[in-house]
Amino acid sequence: MTYQFPHGFVWGASMSAYQTEGAWNEDGKGPSVWDDFCHQNGHIVDDSNGDVACDFYHRYEPDIVQMEKLGLKMVRFSVSWPRVIPDGVGKVNQKGLDFYIRLVRCFRDHGIEPVPVLFHWDLPSALMEKGGYASPYFSDWFVDYARIVLDALAPWISRVYTINQPYSVFKAVAGTVRAPASGNPQSAYLASLHCLEAHGKVVALVRKEYSSLKVGIILNLIPYEPAGNRSEDVLAARWQDTLTNKQFLLPLSGLGFPKELRNYVRQWGFDQLFFDERILQIISLPIDMIGVNYYQKMVVRGISPDGHHAEKVSAGRYPETDGGRAIAPEGLRTVLGWVRDLFPLADIWVTENGADYRSCGKCDQARISYLSLHLKTISDMIQEGFPIRGYLLWTLMDNFEWENGYRGKYGIWALGEHLERIPKQSAIWYASVIKANALTI
Ligand code: BGC
Repeated sequence: MTYQFPHGFVWGASMSAYQTEGAWNEDGKGPSVWDDFCHQNGHIVDDSNGDVACDFYHRYEPDIVQMEKLGLKMVRFSVSWPRVIPDGVGKVNQKGLDFYIRLVRCFRDHGIEPVPVLFHWDLPSALMEKGGYASPYFSDWFVDYARIVLDALAPWISRVYTINQPYSVFKAVAGTVRAPASGNPQSAYLASLHCLEAHGKVVALVRKEYSSLKVGIILNLIPYEPAGNRSEDVLAARWQDTLTNKQFLLPLSGLGFPKELRNYVRQWGFDQLFFDERILQIISLPIDMIGVNYYQKMVVRGISPDGHHAEKVSAGRYPETDGGRAIAPEGLRTVLGWVRDLFPLADIWVTENGADYRSCGKCDQARISYLSLHLKTISDMIQEGFPIRGYLLWTLMDNFEWENGYRGKYGIWALGEHLERIPKQSAIWYASVIKANALTI
Protein backbone atom coordinates (compact mmCIF):
# COMPACT_ATOMS: atom_id res chain seq x y z
CA MET A 1 0.00 0.00 0.00
CA THR A 2 1.19 3.52 -0.76
CA TYR A 3 0.11 6.49 1.30
CA GLN A 4 0.64 9.73 -0.54
CA PHE A 5 1.21 12.86 1.57
CA PRO A 6 -0.21 16.22 0.52
CA HIS A 7 1.81 18.60 -1.59
CA GLY A 8 3.74 20.90 0.75
CA PHE A 9 3.87 18.45 3.65
CA VAL A 10 7.14 19.20 5.42
CA TRP A 11 9.61 16.40 6.19
CA GLY A 12 12.32 17.06 8.71
CA ALA A 13 14.12 16.05 11.85
CA SER A 14 14.66 17.35 15.38
CA MET A 15 17.71 17.58 17.58
CA SER A 16 18.76 19.46 20.70
CA ALA A 17 21.76 21.44 21.89
CA TYR A 18 22.97 19.50 24.92
CA GLN A 19 22.43 16.15 23.23
CA THR A 20 24.53 16.95 20.16
CA GLU A 21 26.66 20.09 20.30
CA GLY A 22 29.47 19.23 22.71
CA ALA A 23 31.90 22.17 23.13
CA TRP A 24 30.49 22.43 26.62
CA ASN A 25 32.98 25.04 27.78
CA GLU A 26 34.21 26.53 24.52
CA ASP A 27 34.05 30.07 23.22
CA GLY A 28 32.76 31.49 26.47
CA LYS A 29 29.84 29.12 27.09
CA GLY A 30 28.71 28.96 30.72
CA PRO A 31 27.78 25.71 32.47
CA SER A 32 24.24 24.38 32.48
CA VAL A 33 22.49 22.19 35.02
CA TRP A 34 23.07 19.27 32.66
CA ASP A 35 26.84 19.88 32.60
CA ASP A 36 26.86 19.89 36.40
CA PHE A 37 24.61 16.85 36.70
CA CYS A 38 26.67 14.72 34.32
CA HIS A 39 29.96 15.79 35.88
CA GLN A 40 28.84 14.27 39.17
CA ASN A 41 29.28 10.53 39.07
CA GLY A 42 26.46 8.08 39.19
CA HIS A 43 23.70 9.93 37.40
CA ILE A 44 24.08 8.63 33.87
CA VAL A 45 24.01 4.87 33.18
CA ASP A 46 27.30 4.82 31.27
CA ASP A 47 28.83 7.68 33.27
CA SER A 48 28.96 9.74 30.10
CA ASN A 49 28.14 13.39 29.48
CA GLY A 50 27.53 15.91 26.73
CA ASP A 51 31.02 17.43 26.83
CA VAL A 52 31.69 16.30 23.27
CA ALA A 53 28.40 14.58 22.34
CA CYS A 54 28.20 14.44 18.52
CA ASP A 55 30.54 17.42 18.24
CA PHE A 56 27.86 19.14 16.19
CA TYR A 57 29.26 22.50 17.30
CA HIS A 58 32.29 21.84 15.09
CA ARG A 59 30.77 19.52 12.49
CA TYR A 60 27.52 21.27 11.66
CA GLU A 61 28.60 22.20 8.12
CA PRO A 62 29.25 18.68 6.78
CA ASP A 63 26.23 17.48 8.76
CA ILE A 64 23.97 19.98 7.06
CA VAL A 65 25.30 18.91 3.67
CA GLN A 66 24.23 15.35 4.56
CA MET A 67 20.85 16.57 5.80
CA GLU A 68 20.25 18.25 2.47
CA LYS A 69 21.17 15.03 0.66
CA LEU A 70 18.70 13.17 2.84
CA GLY A 71 16.05 15.56 1.56
CA LEU A 72 15.18 17.28 4.84
CA LYS A 73 13.25 20.51 4.44
CA MET A 74 13.13 21.52 8.10
CA VAL A 75 15.38 20.96 11.10
CA ARG A 76 14.35 21.80 14.60
CA PHE A 77 17.31 22.50 16.87
CA SER A 78 17.58 24.12 20.29
CA VAL A 79 19.57 27.12 21.41
CA SER A 80 21.71 26.67 24.48
CA TRP A 81 20.87 29.48 26.88
CA PRO A 82 24.26 29.39 28.69
CA ARG A 83 26.09 29.50 25.37
CA VAL A 84 24.36 32.77 24.58
CA ILE A 85 24.23 34.25 28.10
CA PRO A 86 26.73 32.36 30.28
CA ASP A 87 25.23 33.59 33.54
CA GLY A 88 21.68 33.28 32.31
CA VAL A 89 21.12 37.00 32.69
CA GLY A 90 23.29 39.98 31.80
CA LYS A 91 26.28 39.87 29.53
CA VAL A 92 25.80 38.27 26.13
CA ASN A 93 28.47 35.91 24.80
CA GLN A 94 28.76 37.10 21.23
CA LYS A 95 30.74 34.04 20.14
CA GLY A 96 27.95 31.79 21.32
CA LEU A 97 25.34 33.84 19.53
CA ASP A 98 27.49 33.87 16.38
CA PHE A 99 27.44 30.08 16.35
CA TYR A 100 23.66 30.08 16.00
CA ILE A 101 23.77 32.79 13.35
CA ARG A 102 26.24 30.69 11.33
CA LEU A 103 24.08 27.65 11.91
CA VAL A 104 20.80 29.12 10.66
CA ARG A 105 22.55 30.68 7.66
CA CYS A 106 24.10 27.36 6.78
CA PHE A 107 20.69 25.65 6.99
CA ARG A 108 19.21 28.28 4.71
CA ASP A 109 22.10 27.96 2.25
CA HIS A 110 21.18 24.29 1.95
CA GLY A 111 17.48 24.86 1.47
CA ILE A 112 16.51 23.71 4.96
CA GLU A 113 14.26 25.77 7.22
CA PRO A 114 15.90 26.12 10.63
CA VAL A 115 13.41 26.13 13.48
CA PRO A 116 14.86 27.09 16.84
CA VAL A 117 13.48 25.98 20.17
CA LEU A 118 14.54 28.47 22.80
CA PHE A 119 14.76 25.93 25.57
CA HIS A 120 15.45 22.21 25.70
CA TRP A 121 16.39 21.84 29.40
CA ASP A 122 19.97 23.16 29.61
CA LEU A 123 19.27 25.83 32.19
CA PRO A 124 22.28 28.04 33.02
CA SER A 125 23.74 26.86 36.33
CA ALA A 126 23.96 30.45 37.50
CA LEU A 127 20.17 30.70 37.32
CA MET A 128 19.74 27.47 39.23
CA GLU A 129 21.70 29.11 42.04
CA LYS A 130 19.18 31.95 41.96
CA GLY A 131 16.23 29.61 42.42
CA GLY A 132 15.95 28.17 38.92
CA TYR A 133 12.55 27.33 37.55
CA ALA A 134 10.89 27.93 40.90
CA SER A 135 12.03 31.54 41.02
CA PRO A 136 9.30 34.12 40.40
CA TYR A 137 11.80 35.85 38.09
CA PHE A 138 12.17 32.85 35.79
CA SER A 139 9.80 34.12 33.11
CA ASP A 140 11.48 37.53 33.00
CA TRP A 141 14.93 35.96 32.64
CA PHE A 142 13.53 33.86 29.82
CA VAL A 143 12.03 36.80 27.93
CA ASP A 144 15.30 38.75 28.11
CA TYR A 145 17.13 35.73 26.73
CA ALA A 146 14.50 35.19 24.02
CA ARG A 147 14.84 38.78 22.85
CA ILE A 148 18.61 38.39 22.38
CA VAL A 149 18.16 35.19 20.37
CA LEU A 150 15.31 36.49 18.24
CA ASP A 151 17.10 39.77 17.50
CA ALA A 152 20.03 37.78 16.17
CA LEU A 153 18.18 35.01 14.30
CA ALA A 154 15.02 36.73 13.04
CA PRO A 155 16.35 37.42 9.52
CA TRP A 156 16.77 33.70 8.85
CA ILE A 157 13.86 32.07 10.63
CA SER A 158 10.10 31.95 10.10
CA ARG A 159 9.05 30.10 13.23
CA VAL A 160 10.15 29.66 16.79
CA TYR A 161 9.14 27.33 19.59
CA THR A 162 9.44 28.56 23.13
CA ILE A 163 9.93 25.48 25.32
CA ASN A 164 10.33 21.80 24.60
CA GLN A 165 8.23 19.61 26.89
CA PRO A 166 7.50 21.61 30.04
CA TYR A 167 6.26 18.34 31.52
CA SER A 168 9.83 17.05 31.38
CA VAL A 169 10.95 20.12 33.31
CA PHE A 170 8.25 19.36 35.89
CA LYS A 171 9.49 15.79 36.24
CA ALA A 172 13.15 16.79 36.36
CA VAL A 173 12.45 19.15 39.27
CA ALA A 174 10.13 16.75 41.10
CA GLY A 175 12.41 13.75 40.71
CA THR A 176 16.07 12.88 40.88
CA VAL A 177 16.69 11.24 37.51
CA ARG A 178 17.25 14.27 35.31
CA ALA A 179 18.84 17.64 35.97
CA PRO A 180 18.31 19.65 38.07
CA ALA A 181 17.06 16.59 40.00
CA SER A 182 15.77 18.71 42.86
CA GLY A 183 13.51 15.96 44.24
CA ASN A 184 11.06 18.68 45.18
CA PRO A 185 7.42 18.33 44.06
CA GLN A 186 6.47 21.72 45.43
CA SER A 187 9.06 23.44 43.22
CA ALA A 188 7.99 21.27 40.30
CA TYR A 189 4.50 22.76 40.22
CA LEU A 190 5.98 26.24 40.34
CA ALA A 191 8.34 25.22 37.55
CA SER A 192 5.39 24.24 35.35
CA LEU A 193 3.61 27.48 36.07
CA HIS A 194 6.72 29.55 35.39
CA CYS A 195 7.55 27.70 32.17
CA LEU A 196 4.04 28.33 30.90
CA GLU A 197 4.23 31.96 31.94
CA ALA A 198 7.63 32.29 30.26
CA HIS A 199 6.17 30.78 27.10
CA GLY A 200 3.25 33.22 27.13
CA LYS A 201 5.50 36.23 27.65
CA VAL A 202 7.56 35.20 24.64
CA VAL A 203 4.39 34.84 22.57
CA ALA A 204 3.59 38.46 23.54
CA LEU A 205 7.12 39.52 22.65
CA VAL A 206 6.91 37.87 19.24
CA ARG A 207 3.57 39.54 18.49
CA LYS A 208 4.96 42.93 19.44
CA GLU A 209 8.49 42.87 18.07
CA TYR A 210 8.82 39.98 15.61
CA SER A 211 5.36 39.86 14.12
CA SER A 212 6.44 38.03 10.98
CA LEU A 213 7.37 34.95 13.03
CA LYS A 214 5.04 32.10 13.88
CA VAL A 215 5.30 31.00 17.48
CA GLY A 216 4.29 27.93 19.43
CA ILE A 217 5.20 25.47 22.18
CA ILE A 218 6.10 21.78 22.13
CA LEU A 219 4.36 19.27 24.38
CA ASN A 220 5.00 15.59 24.89
CA LEU A 221 1.62 13.98 25.23
CA ILE A 222 0.99 10.48 26.53
CA PRO A 223 -2.27 8.51 26.72
CA TYR A 224 -2.36 6.54 29.98
CA GLU A 225 -4.12 3.27 30.65
CA PRO A 226 -4.74 1.63 34.02
CA ALA A 227 -2.98 -1.72 34.43
CA GLY A 228 -6.16 -3.28 35.78
CA ASN A 229 -9.56 -2.29 37.12
CA ARG A 230 -8.47 -1.67 40.74
CA SER A 231 -9.49 1.84 41.74
CA GLU A 232 -5.82 2.69 42.50
CA ASP A 233 -4.95 1.90 38.89
CA VAL A 234 -7.82 3.91 37.45
CA LEU A 235 -6.99 6.88 39.69
CA ALA A 236 -3.31 6.59 38.85
CA ALA A 237 -4.00 6.73 35.10
CA ARG A 238 -6.21 9.75 35.64
CA TRP A 239 -3.66 11.55 37.79
CA GLN A 240 -0.82 10.89 35.34
CA ASP A 241 -3.02 12.23 32.56
CA THR A 242 -3.60 15.38 34.61
CA LEU A 243 0.11 15.87 35.22
CA THR A 244 1.42 15.04 31.77
CA ASN A 245 -1.31 16.34 29.51
CA LYS A 246 -3.98 18.46 31.17
CA GLN A 247 -1.53 20.44 33.30
CA PHE A 248 -0.32 22.06 30.05
CA LEU A 249 -3.05 21.59 27.46
CA LEU A 250 -5.80 23.17 29.53
CA PRO A 251 -4.16 26.43 30.63
CA LEU A 252 -2.56 26.92 27.21
CA SER A 253 -5.92 26.62 25.52
CA GLY A 254 -7.60 29.05 27.92
CA LEU A 255 -9.40 26.52 30.12
CA GLY A 256 -7.31 27.13 33.23
CA PHE A 257 -5.45 24.60 35.34
CA PRO A 258 -7.27 21.35 36.12
CA LYS A 259 -9.27 21.53 39.32
CA GLU A 260 -7.59 18.50 40.89
CA LEU A 261 -4.20 20.09 40.33
CA ARG A 262 -5.27 23.36 41.96
CA ASN A 263 -6.60 21.40 44.90
CA TYR A 264 -3.37 19.46 45.16
CA VAL A 265 -1.11 22.51 45.32
CA ARG A 266 -3.26 24.03 48.07
CA GLN A 267 -1.14 22.05 50.56
CA TRP A 268 1.74 24.46 49.84
CA GLY A 269 -0.40 27.58 50.02
CA PHE A 270 0.25 28.88 46.51
CA ASP A 271 -2.89 27.64 44.78
CA GLN A 272 -4.06 31.20 44.17
CA LEU A 273 -1.25 31.53 41.62
CA PHE A 274 -2.96 28.83 39.58
CA PHE A 275 -6.18 30.87 39.54
CA ASP A 276 -4.57 34.23 38.82
CA GLU A 277 -6.45 35.68 35.84
CA ARG A 278 -3.53 37.83 34.75
CA ILE A 279 -1.17 34.85 34.62
CA LEU A 280 -3.76 32.61 32.94
CA GLN A 281 -4.36 35.22 30.29
CA ILE A 282 -0.64 35.41 29.45
CA ILE A 283 -0.35 31.63 29.31
CA SER A 284 -3.29 31.30 26.94
CA LEU A 285 -2.27 33.91 24.39
CA PRO A 286 -3.13 32.39 21.01
CA ILE A 287 -0.35 30.45 19.32
CA ASP A 288 0.18 29.80 15.62
CA MET A 289 1.35 26.24 15.94
CA ILE A 290 1.59 23.45 18.43
CA GLY A 291 4.35 20.88 18.34
CA VAL A 292 3.52 17.41 19.59
CA ASN A 293 6.20 14.92 20.58
CA TYR A 294 4.78 11.44 20.60
CA TYR A 295 6.48 8.18 21.44
CA GLN A 296 4.27 5.89 23.45
CA LYS A 297 1.26 4.97 25.49
CA MET A 298 1.81 4.20 29.15
CA VAL A 299 0.20 1.54 31.29
CA VAL A 300 0.31 2.43 34.99
CA ARG A 301 -0.37 0.69 38.25
CA GLY A 302 -1.43 2.72 41.27
CA ILE A 303 0.68 2.16 44.37
CA SER A 304 -1.23 4.45 46.69
CA PRO A 305 -5.00 4.48 47.30
CA ASP A 306 -5.41 7.99 45.84
CA GLY A 307 -3.46 7.07 42.70
CA HIS A 308 -0.92 9.83 43.29
CA HIS A 309 1.86 7.29 43.35
CA ALA A 310 2.11 5.06 40.36
CA GLU A 311 4.53 2.89 38.48
CA LYS A 312 4.81 2.16 34.82
CA VAL A 313 4.23 -1.51 34.00
CA SER A 314 4.66 -3.51 30.85
CA ALA A 315 1.46 -5.51 31.25
CA GLY A 316 2.32 -7.31 28.00
CA ARG A 317 -0.36 -5.24 26.33
CA TYR A 318 1.87 -3.62 23.73
CA PRO A 319 5.10 -4.51 22.00
CA GLU A 320 7.96 -2.37 23.24
CA THR A 321 11.03 -0.70 21.78
CA ASP A 322 14.46 -1.59 23.16
CA GLY A 323 14.10 1.55 25.26
CA GLY A 324 10.98 0.03 26.89
CA ARG A 325 8.37 2.31 25.35
CA ALA A 326 4.97 0.83 24.40
CA ILE A 327 4.45 0.97 20.65
CA ALA A 328 0.93 2.26 20.07
CA PRO A 329 0.42 4.40 16.97
CA GLU A 330 -3.27 4.77 17.79
CA GLY A 331 -2.11 6.86 20.76
CA LEU A 332 -0.80 9.41 18.29
CA ARG A 333 -4.31 9.69 16.92
CA THR A 334 -5.62 10.22 20.44
CA VAL A 335 -3.22 13.02 21.35
CA LEU A 336 -3.51 14.82 18.02
CA GLY A 337 -7.27 14.66 18.52
CA TRP A 338 -6.95 16.49 21.86
CA VAL A 339 -4.79 19.12 20.26
CA ARG A 340 -7.10 19.69 17.32
CA ASP A 341 -10.08 20.12 19.64
CA LEU A 342 -8.33 22.46 22.04
CA PHE A 343 -6.40 24.57 19.50
CA PRO A 344 -8.72 24.72 16.50
CA LEU A 345 -6.82 27.57 14.89
CA ALA A 346 -3.26 26.30 15.33
CA ASP A 347 -1.23 24.30 12.85
CA ILE A 348 -0.23 20.91 14.19
CA TRP A 349 3.33 19.69 13.78
CA VAL A 350 4.63 16.34 14.90
CA THR A 351 7.87 17.69 16.27
CA GLU A 352 9.29 14.39 17.57
CA ASN A 353 8.59 10.75 16.94
CA GLY A 354 11.09 7.95 16.88
CA ALA A 355 12.30 4.84 18.60
CA ASP A 356 15.25 3.60 20.62
CA TYR A 357 16.53 0.43 18.95
CA ARG A 358 19.91 -0.70 20.11
CA SER A 359 20.57 -4.03 18.47
CA CYS A 360 22.75 -4.10 15.43
CA GLY A 361 24.38 -0.89 14.23
CA LYS A 362 23.19 -0.08 10.76
CA CYS A 363 20.39 -2.60 10.37
CA ASP A 364 17.41 -1.11 12.09
CA GLN A 365 14.39 -2.60 10.39
CA ALA A 366 12.50 -2.31 13.68
CA ARG A 367 12.88 1.48 13.60
CA ILE A 368 11.53 1.55 10.05
CA SER A 369 8.50 -0.45 11.18
CA TYR A 370 7.90 1.87 14.13
CA LEU A 371 8.17 4.99 11.99
CA SER A 372 5.98 3.49 9.24
CA LEU A 373 3.19 2.68 11.67
CA HIS A 374 3.17 6.23 12.97
CA LEU A 375 3.39 7.80 9.52
CA LYS A 376 0.47 5.71 8.36
CA THR A 377 -1.58 7.09 11.26
CA ILE A 378 -0.59 10.62 10.29
CA SER A 379 -1.50 10.01 6.67
CA ASP A 380 -4.93 8.70 7.70
CA MET A 381 -5.50 11.72 9.91
CA ILE A 382 -4.54 14.16 7.17
CA GLN A 383 -7.06 12.45 4.91
CA GLU A 384 -9.64 13.06 7.62
CA GLY A 385 -8.84 16.77 7.62
CA PHE A 386 -6.39 17.17 10.50
CA PRO A 387 -4.15 20.23 9.90
CA ILE A 388 -0.88 18.31 10.33
CA ARG A 389 1.73 20.36 8.51
CA GLY A 390 4.85 18.29 8.93
CA TYR A 391 6.75 15.48 10.55
CA LEU A 392 10.06 15.89 12.35
CA LEU A 393 11.72 12.60 13.10
CA TRP A 394 13.62 12.12 16.35
CA THR A 395 16.44 12.02 15.56
CA LEU A 396 19.16 12.34 13.00
CA MET A 397 22.09 10.86 14.83
CA ASP A 398 22.58 8.71 17.88
CA ASN A 399 23.30 11.19 20.62
CA PHE A 400 23.41 11.79 24.35
CA GLU A 401 20.13 10.29 25.48
CA TRP A 402 19.93 11.97 28.92
CA GLU A 403 20.06 9.51 31.84
CA ASN A 404 20.63 6.67 29.34
CA GLY A 405 23.83 8.26 28.11
CA TYR A 406 24.92 6.91 24.74
CA ARG A 407 23.08 3.62 25.26
CA GLY A 408 19.82 5.07 23.96
CA LYS A 409 19.85 4.97 20.17
CA TYR A 410 17.21 7.03 18.42
CA GLY A 411 19.36 8.07 15.46
CA ILE A 412 19.01 7.21 11.81
CA TRP A 413 22.75 7.81 11.64
CA ALA A 414 25.07 5.79 13.86
CA LEU A 415 28.27 7.39 15.12
CA GLY A 416 31.57 5.68 14.38
CA GLU A 417 34.59 5.52 16.64
CA HIS A 418 35.70 8.94 15.45
CA LEU A 419 32.17 10.29 15.48
CA GLU A 420 31.83 9.81 11.75
CA ARG A 421 28.19 9.69 10.68
CA ILE A 422 27.11 6.29 9.36
CA PRO A 423 23.64 6.14 7.78
CA LYS A 424 21.53 3.24 9.01
CA GLN A 425 18.94 1.48 6.85
CA SER A 426 16.34 3.82 8.32
CA ALA A 427 18.18 6.84 6.87
CA ILE A 428 18.03 5.33 3.39
CA TRP A 429 14.38 4.48 3.94
CA TYR A 430 13.54 8.00 5.22
CA ALA A 431 15.23 9.58 2.19
CA SER A 432 13.05 7.49 -0.11
CA VAL A 433 9.87 8.42 1.78
CA ILE A 434 10.77 12.10 1.51
CA LYS A 435 11.62 11.84 -2.16
CA ALA A 436 8.32 10.13 -3.00
CA ASN A 437 6.37 12.26 -0.50
CA ALA A 438 4.75 8.92 0.21
CA LEU A 439 4.97 5.96 2.53
CA THR A 440 4.93 2.49 1.06
CA ILE A 441 4.28 -0.43 3.35
C1 BGC B 1 13.03 14.63 24.23
C2 BGC B 1 14.36 14.29 23.61
C3 BGC B 1 14.71 12.84 23.88
C4 BGC B 1 13.62 11.98 23.28
C5 BGC B 1 13.86 10.49 23.35
C6 BGC B 1 11.98 13.56 24.00
O1 BGC B 1 11.05 13.55 25.01
O2 BGC B 1 12.58 15.89 23.80
O3 BGC B 1 15.32 15.16 24.12
O4 BGC B 1 15.96 12.50 23.42
O5 BGC B 1 12.44 12.26 23.96
O6 BGC B 1 13.86 10.03 24.65
